[in-house]
Amino acid sequence: MKRNPKRLGLAIIGGGRVGLFRGEVAARHPSVEWIGLAEKNPNRAGAVGPKIDADFVTQSHVELIKRPAVNCAIIATDEHLHVDPIMACIERGIPMLIEKPLATRLEESARVLKLIQEAKLDAVVGYTQRFRRRWLAAKEKCRTGALGEVTLVTSRAFMNRLVAIDNYKRTDDPSTISPMVISGTHALDICLWCLEGKTPVEVYARSIRASTPPPA
Ligand SMILES: NC(=O)c1ccc[n+]([C@@H]2O[C@H](COP(=O)([O-])OP(=O)(O)OC[C@H]3O[C@@H](n4cnc5c(N)ncnc54)[C@H](O)[C@@H]3O)[C@@H](O)[C@H]2O)c1
Repeated sequence: MKRNPKRLGLAIIGGGRVGLFRGEVAARHPSVEWIGLAEKNPNRAGAVGPKIDADFVTQSHVELIKRPAVNCAIIATDEHLHVDPIMACIERGIPMLIEKPLATRLEESARVLKLIQEAKLDAVVGYTQRFRRRWLAAKEKCRTGALGEVTLVTSRAFMNRLVAIDNYKRTDDPSTISPMVISGTHALDICLWCLEGKTPVEVYARSIRASTPPPA
């Protein structure tokens, strides 16, 4: 353990389910000296601020990132709203934990990744499935060669329709929040992780569209 761990001034952008959870954990961490919260919904901001013992609460991520105490950030906004807060952090050179996915459009992801790399920023995407015992075991079997050379990975997910319906409420443009964005991005990450840095030559995905509309 480090004798003098860096004192953290943590900006949490997005105080929804995940922002609250991360904030509660951060509030108990001895290295975290200061917590700021940006949550655009004022009722939610008022409810979450005290729960995470926030020193500063605002509705604007721009205002939060300007605060001198901030030296790291968690981007926990909705999936299709990561890019603006990421850009604000890049501009100030703030290292980030970005909840998955990086962005919801390929060209945006590529642009953001390039800017993060050019700024030489420490930034990770929250692919938390990698910490689950079952995936760690699978990864170990790939890494040690117990499975032989891995040349094909398949993944299948069964997603509760209620999750999708709930997520579609967040946007007027449902194409930004597909099952791939919500859940498939985790599966893709695990597949690429198991492939140990190999570049896939072919990728395909299938989904099923219900013939009857979901109940209102
Ligand atoms: N790693 C995991 O297993 C896991 C699990 C669930 C969710 N997530 C990810 O976490 C992120 C958040 O998910 P959630 O379930 O907490 O969503 P949520 O809808 O509960 O919370 C998102 C919050 O962000 C706020 N927000 C949006 N844009 C903002 C901005 N610019 N400034 C301030 N506040 C803003 C919204 O008002 C909302 O309260 C998503 O990217 C999601 O995919 C990851």
